[in-house]
Amino acid sequence: MITYRLALIPGDGIGVDVTDAAMAVLNVAARRYGFTLETESFPWSCDYYLKTGAMMPEDGIETLRGFDAIYLGAVGWPDTVPDAVSLHGLLLPIRKAFDQYANIRPHRLLAGVEGPLKTSAFDILCIRENTEGEYSGAGGRVHQGKDNEVAVETSVFTRIGVERILRFGFEQAKARRGHLTSVTKSNAQKYSMVFWDEVTRELAAEYPEVTVSHMHIDAMAAKMVMAPQDLDVVVASNLFGDILTDLGAAIQGGLGFAASANICPDRSAPSMFEPVHGSAPDIAGQNIANPIAAIWSGSQMLDHLGEGEAAAAILRAIEEATAKGIGTRPGQNSTEEITKTICAALEV
Ligand code: NAD
Ligand code: IPM
Ligand code: MN
Repeated sequence: MITYRLALIPGDGIGVDVTDAAMAVLNVAARRYGFTLETESFPWSCDYYLKTGAMMPEDGIETLRGFDAIYLGAVGWPDTVPDAVSLHGLLLPIRKAFDQYANIRPHRLLAGVEGPLKTSAFDILCIRENTEGEYSGAGGRVHQGKDNEVAVETSVFTRIGVERILRFGFEQAKARRGHLTSVTKSNAQKYSMVFWDEVTRELAAEYPEVTVSHMHIDAMAAKMVMAPQDLDVVVASNLFGDILTDLGAAIQGGLGFAASANICPDRSAPSMFEPVHGSAPDIAGQNIANPIAAIWSGSQMLDHLGEGEAAAAILRAIEEATAKGIGTRPGQNSTEEITKTICAALEV
């Protein structure tokens, strides 16, 4: 029987609840589909930081490198550790160190879920650049006395980085409905985004079967609300993709439904799977977090590991639950109830 080695990082807040939920479902899938998940859990979190002074040990990245995949709940507890410290100490370095440059975030309505829009007929695959751009970490604060203080945050866009994420998007579009929307702000950002547009045009010539739209991020935000049914694959930079995917989650009915895969496409390092949402301090510890986003991310992980049948079965089980109205509205069912319903649907 094939065994996959998983590194689990439940993290903070509801990260812990939804990781437990996802693992319960993944283990049922493993039993049913004849493979084993050998998990090792790491307590890296804001609590860990308060005890040790670091979000993960110095050799944390090297420890994770040996696993087949990483499953993460959520990181951040801003009351005790500043977000810029916790996220730059754990989540962001993992994405970068393992070259998980393709962040795949699907947005569609699950059966039985009523979204906030008039239309339910959308199926968007957002491909977010995940290692550079606005998240490069380059910059600094220039102290010239309080009144003249200047802070600089530099976006870095490399040809390799831009070309590979767009190529990834074109390949996805080719395999789906043949439409790619490239999101920029090249009317205002005259270096990085004009460069991005140029690379998009170059690649478009290689993919005559894919139709391409260029959209600015502001118009794109409106489009996702007004006419999301016109979108297929959407490719965006790190920050624009971050913002658009919370919007994507909203049109799906909420952050509890939005899944996310941080993929290292050449498989030279492990990929990481986590819901789009964060640690949700406002509902942490109440057993009311919706685990569906996390469970869907687990399905993405099985698909990546080559267990496509089990991955599809998990998605079917999720929709069997939501079609019956389980987990479709905030606070209606407990985390545990939703998880049990999905596990039961998978057992059948
Ligand atoms: P958040 O996603 O944690 O929460 C935003 C809102 O959505 C909250 O009202 C929350 O209750 C709700 N929500 C989120 N997930 C839900 C779920 N599964 N079920 C039901 N409701 C859900 O965003 P935030 O409040 O901006 O961030 C909280 C902390 O999480 C911060 O420290 C932030 O930096 C961090 N964060 C981490 C990640 C990550 O680890 N990938 C992602 C986003 C935010
Ligand atoms: C996400 C999160 C992270 C991001 C934060 C917590 C750094 O919002 O995964 O969407 O911006 O990538
Ligand atoms: Mn985000």
